[in-house]
Amino acid sequence: MPYSIQQKLQSLSNPIKKELKLSILLFSLITTSILCYNVITPLQPTSLFNIDFLSKILPNNNLTPTKSSNKSCDYSYGKWVWDETQPERRYSENCPFLDPGFRCRQNGRQDLVYQKWQWLPEGCLLPRFNANDFLQRSRNGRIVFAGDSIGRNQWESLLCMLTQGVSNQSTIYEENGNPITKHKGFLSIKFHEYNLTVQYYRLPYLVASDRPPRNAPKEVRGVVRVDKLHWFSTNWVGADVLVFSTGHWWNQDKTIKSGHYFQEGQYINMTMDVMEAFKRSLNTVKLYIMQNLELKKSRVFFRSYSPVHYRDGEWNKGGHCNTSTEPETDKKRLEYEPQNNIYTYEVVKQMESAGIMVQFLNITYLTELRIDGHPSSNREPGTPVDAPQDCSHWCLPGVPDTWNELLYAGLLTTGFRMKPV
Ligand SMILES: *[C@@H]1O[C@H](CO)[C@@H](O)[C@H](O)[C@H]1NC(C)=O
Ligand SMILES: *[C@@H]1O[C@H](CO)[C@@H](O)[C@H](O)[C@H]1NC(C)=O
Ligand SMILES: *[C@@H]1O[C@H](CO)[C@@H](O)[C@H](O)[C@H]1NC(C)=O
Ligand SMILES: *[C@@H]1O[C@H](CO)[C@@H](O)[C@H](O)[C@H]1NC(C)=O
Ligand SMILES: *[C@@H]1O[C@H](CO)[C@@H](O)[C@H](O)[C@H]1NC(C)=O
Ligand SMILES: *[C@@H]1O[C@H](CO)[C@@H](O)[C@H](O)[C@H]1NC(C)=O
Repeated sequence: MPYSIQQKLQSLSNPIKKELKLSILLFSLITTSILCYNVITPLQPTSLFNIDFLSKILPNNNLTPTKSSNKSCDYSYGKWVWDETQPERRYSENCPFLDPGFRCRQNGRQDLVYQKWQWLPEGCLLPRFNANDFLQRSRNGRIVFAGDSIGRNQWESLLCMLTQGVSNQSTIYEENGNPITKHKGFLSIKFHEYNLTVQYYRLPYLVASDRPPRNAPKEVRGVVRVDKLHWFSTNWVGADVLVFSTGHWWNQDKTIKSGHYFQEGQYINMTMDVMEAFKRSLNTVKLYIMQNLELKKSRVFFRSYSPVHYRDGEWNKGGHCNTSTEPETDKKRLEYEPQNNIYTYEVVKQMESAGIMVQFLNITYLTELRIDGHPSSNREPGTPVDAPQDCSHWCLPGVPDTWNELLYAGLLTTGFRMKPV
């Protein structure tokens, strides 16, 4: 297996000749690609050195991670390929940092093939996630996830992925002794051996939300303060990595239709629409970042919109996603690029030109294909049988693991805390 070649490589001691290392890596990567290719086209008789296939992939990009890791690569487009080695080479559902809602198998899901897909970007190889390397680079550091529950989904995925690089799991713990649950607004996991903390701050809108001010009109039941951040944000100063995650709460139902209006200064703007408010909020986050973060130190990521998959009805009108057990193949069923992404991308570009090390973590397309990856009816224990299906969060291990592979790749691109060799 090519993976074991790579593992062996990693364990090889330093003095090995660089050229040799590179050529073995190159070879193993090529065989990996061929294997993946063979797996997805099992009916075609394929020889190991399928020249046609190689010539399609090779000219496009550097296959050596040493080179591509330092070069920006677009991982957002590609396809899902079957990978028999998953999820064993990641983590299991027994990882202690998964909250009950994401443990789909324990919640009754029978088909487990959703765990067996690997994202294969077009024209670029995604560096293999290396928990040891990630931890080494993050030593004495702090990684912050701020955002909605999809962000918590990704945070838990990263915790479990990093746990793979630690031999004694008792040395990883929540700093305040809190259980991992969706009911907590703030959770901080310490990787003691590495003096690393990985934190989650629950902020569905990123900006602050509040009770209505005293003089507010009767229909106002709450406000989203588009020009004000939650006090949590004072804790983000000094973080090495920040991952912002928002999206699902920016809709009519959760805001205006349920009495949550947008406030600017002391003024509740009863006519401000959701997308305008979203834009202004992103701007608030942008100003915060430009004023507070250490430019040379902090890496900032904005995760793109994570698609939902309610078929035959809205989430609360009997919509479901339990009939798909594999990724979507019908491209006609894919949605257009959400407006959220356009706005987020714009703000990312503005920050970039101001010298911030910021990246747009564009997971929308790859995620859109994964209608099979949601908890659907396999929700956490205690959920009433007639409750709506969950077609917005993700089973773990599962799709957010790939987001974290992209996050890792993004960190490598900027030489994140590389040690001089
Ligand atoms: C995100 O990635 C998809 C797939 O490559 C692409 O179609 C889309 O334009 C990207 N969005 C942005 C804002 O870059
Ligand atoms: C742990 O990391 C923090 C920075 O996050 C640093 O201030 C502290 O000195 C480190 N502790 C040890 C024991 O290295
Ligand atoms: C694992 O870590 C815990 C907490 O630090 C410690 O009490 C225990 O002895 C360790 N176990 C092993 C096998 O090292
Ligand atoms: C309310 O928000 C809208 C944008 O949606 C804006 O055009 C308008 O000027 C705002 N009203 C006030 C009084 O600020
Ligand atoms: C999917 O969910 C619907 C509604 O809960 C249920 O009627 C149906 O039997 C389920 N189908 C499968 C394949 O599990
Ligand atoms: C590429 O990686 C090196 C470390 O190997 C780092 O110093 C450099 O800043 C990186 N280049 C870019 C453009 O981030």
